[in-house]
Amino acid sequence: MEFTLNGQDRTFDGDPGQELLAYLRDVAGLKSPKDGCSGEGICGCCTVLVDGKARLSCRMAVKDVAGRTVTTVEGLSPEERDAFADAFVLKGGVQCGFCTPGIVMKAASLLRKNPGPTREEIRDGLNGNLCRCTGYKKVIDSVACAAEALREGRPVAFPGGTGAVGTRHPKYTAREAVLGERVFVGDMVEPGMVYGALRFSDHPRARVLRVDTTEALQVEGVLAVLTARDIKGRRVNGMIYRDWPVMVLEGEETRCIGDVLASVAASTEEAARAAAGLVRVEYEVLPPVTDIFEALEPGAPQLTDHGNVLSVTEVRLGDAEGALRTAAHVTRQRYTTQRIEHAFLEPEAALAVPWTKDGEAGVKIFDGGQGGYEDRRQIAELLDLPERLVNVVLVQNGGAFGGKEDLMGQHHAAMLCLATGRPVMLRFDRKTSLRTHAKRHPIVMDYELGCDAEGRLVALVARMHSDSGAYASVGMKVIERAVAHSAGAYAIPNVHVKGTAVITNNAPCGAMRGFGANQAAFGIESSVDELCALGGFDRWQFRWDNALTEGKATATGQVLRSGVGVRACLEALEGRFRAAKYAGLAAGIKNTGIGCGMPDSGMAKIEILGPQKVVLHHGWCEMGQGAHNMALQTLVTETGIDPAVIEVRVETDAETRCGMTTASRGTSLVGNSVREAARGLKADLAAGLTLADLAGRTYRGEWVCDWTTKVGQEPPEGREIVTHYSYGYAAQLVELDGAGRITRVTAAHDAGRIMNPTLFEGQIEGSLHMGLGYAITEDFPYRDGWPVSWKMADLGILRTRDMPELDVIGVEVPDAHGPYGAKGVGEIGLVPTAPAVANALRQFDGVRRTALPLRELRLLGRGK
Ligand code: FES
Repeated sequence: MEFTLNGQDRTFDGDPGQELLAYLRDVAGLKSPKDGCSGEGICGCCTVLVDGKARLSCRMAVKDVAGRTVTTVEGLSPEERDAFADAFVLKGGVQCGFCTPGIVMKAASLLRKNPGPTREEIRDGLNGNLCRCTGYKKVIDSVACAAEALREGRPVAFPGGTGAVGTRHPKYTAREAVLGERVFVGDMVEPGMVYGALRFSDHPRARVLRVDTTEALQVEGVLAVLTARDIKGRRVNGMIYRDWPVMVLEGEETRCIGDVLASVAASTEEAARAAAGLVRVEYEVLPPVTDIFEALEPGAPQLTDHGNVLSVTEVRLGDAEGALRTAAHVTRQRYTTQRIEHAFLEPEAALAVPWTKDGEAGVKIFDGGQGGYEDRRQIAELLDLPERLVNVVLVQNGGAFGGKEDLMGQHHAAMLCLATGRPVMLRFDRKTSLRTHAKRHPIVMDYELGCDAEGRLVALVARMHSDSGAYASVGMKVIERAVAHSAGAYAIPNVHVKGTAVITNNAPCGAMRGFGANQAAFGIESSVDELCALGGFDRWQFRWDNALTEGKATATGQVLRSGVGVRACLEALEGRFRAAKYAGLAAGIKNTGIGCGMPDSGMAKIEILGPQKVVLHHGWCEMGQGAHNMALQTLVTETGIDPAVIEVRVETDAETRCGMTTASRGTSLVGNSVREAARGLKADLAAGLTLADLAGRTYRGEWVCDWTTKVGQEPPEGREIVTHYSYGYAAQLVELDGAGRITRVTAAHDAGRIMNPTLFEGQIEGSLHMGLGYAITEDFPYRDGWPVSWKMADLGILRTRDMPELDVIGVEVPDAHGPYGAKGVGEIGLVPTAPAVANALRQFDGVRRTALPLRELRLLGRGK
């Protein structure tokens, strides 16, 4: 059959039923259409034009385009390409960029029909395209900007600027992302590349009696089938506790449906997946333990050697129970939050290639994860190789939000690469992604909060139980963070909070944006509003009066010494709060840095290659949030180097060690380490040397915080409790109209120093989108150890039409340790959102909601 692709005639004599998206990507080599939902047709990442109309290429076969014209981003006119690329860069409509080419194609079809759309028309036109990063506001701004440029036949005008900290410097490689030219791991192709696939457990809990690879090995194209017996090194892995088996051995019990029993490498992805399905497994099926309270019963099956409790965190300040007994007003309530899925639009992918270092054989891994050095450590242990023979290149990924911290496919790709001697691509489809990576913890929280007759908080007693699922991941840290943030942004003199992380046969739960602080915020902020109702207190004033300030202590007993911006955030909202018909208010706090007795550190290396090329190495993952900009803009600020000559790289061979990109610490640690690295370069430039003179030189820098205190432990003699070296602060206001629909969310955030206003706003707007979803629709329920639904459509991710007006207010109360005073903003954007929504509804109809998600679609204007 024949058709036209991007203006060129094509003849196709393959399988006419082949999915058009697969053809475009794998045969035609066009990488702008992305596969985000594995054919479900709900994400829009694969949107192309067919005869000028926007169509989902994952829902079409090649035969459907016989005699027709197909256009991808690569085939748009030069004017359209420039307009979209420049507009998205200027307006900040691109973060991770995975959704962007699909959105551009939808927008192109819209603008060809209607060159002057209103914002509402753009919003409605893009409703079929999901974006997990931006909150859509800047996407709509970008399309409006592109439309204007195209209508007026002129380029998008950039204001220019130095690229220094504080400027709206364009996001690093954003233009390439818009045009689909910046490759994600799953887009990569290597000569001789083969494909990997995994065989998962058929049961959440079962003893594995036999794993038989005979049939799988007979599939044409199969090169290797590996089981747990083939692992040379450390088979059981994990970021903190080593409890997560790379593959389950015969004789062991599976603990969740994401457990891997075998891996396959084959010449095609189809052959690898087919062979994985032919690995035969015999089991003794056991009843799964799926309820946290049943798991804690004395007679419950014990899922680990140490029982079903992963960890317990407890904090005590004063006499909380005693203070509650004498409090003038006390609210007691159980609050529950749900498991949700990260739903980053790029499913996990890893490419492992044979690699040599100083003549010794190793492996290089193009990795879409969140921590190159952590991944390298675990992969080297698994392969029984020294770390120097494992080189992890962190490729900018298509969103992560904490869900790409644990190893998912990187280690399997590496094993298969060594077994076959070939480059191995291992890409997860959406179902595999849902099946494997750790989720946000459901937490059951029993809150008791009391205040005196004047409205001063006097005591908090709380019990928290999280479903941490099958493996530790960072579950003990999440419950620790929930406990540490249990008092929210308030100073409470008497606190007794205990959190227990429970092991079950459900999906492992781990890091997700907010990391326990969101759940705690729902408990404390709902409780604060209930106290205000009991005592007749003004909700804004009560918060302002009880807010953390310098000299007051958090729930862990850390006395904050400087840079506390809670009151400034509340003050930014007071006018709107007073004017709103139905206003929901919530404050928030979120740590910057892991802290809690663990070191936070980062390294940077500046390589001067010549006057036109400076390579800036750091260790942090760019997942859309802007880590590369933070590094680059810091270097520009310190040295005045032209940002256009700076290339940013993350590769473990550069030995710029750091941990996971987590805990809102990237800006802080990359900024401080680049500043340290820039010292020598700055001095050399000040001495009159040029980049040409300095070609061949490298400069290194490191910044370490090793003075934090484990939660619940006393600090060393003579030192204060420092749970975290820095915190971000926020307050948010959700306004409802007379029909109970959210009309606007105003988010005031103390970022310490706003390093890049466009990226700052983007982080908060994207967080608000995620926070509103968390509040109202998002859920990933399990039954008997299995997801109730495998559909991405059922995850409850909000679309363009669901989004209210978003207004971000930047507050800058400088931090003592952050670069230029900066605090982390990656997570706090959704910490106050869900309770602010619930508190708005409480004003609307007087009913206190205690469980997330609220499932009240009228909030979104979707009927009742
Ligand atoms: Fe849209 Fe990341 S920028 S999904």
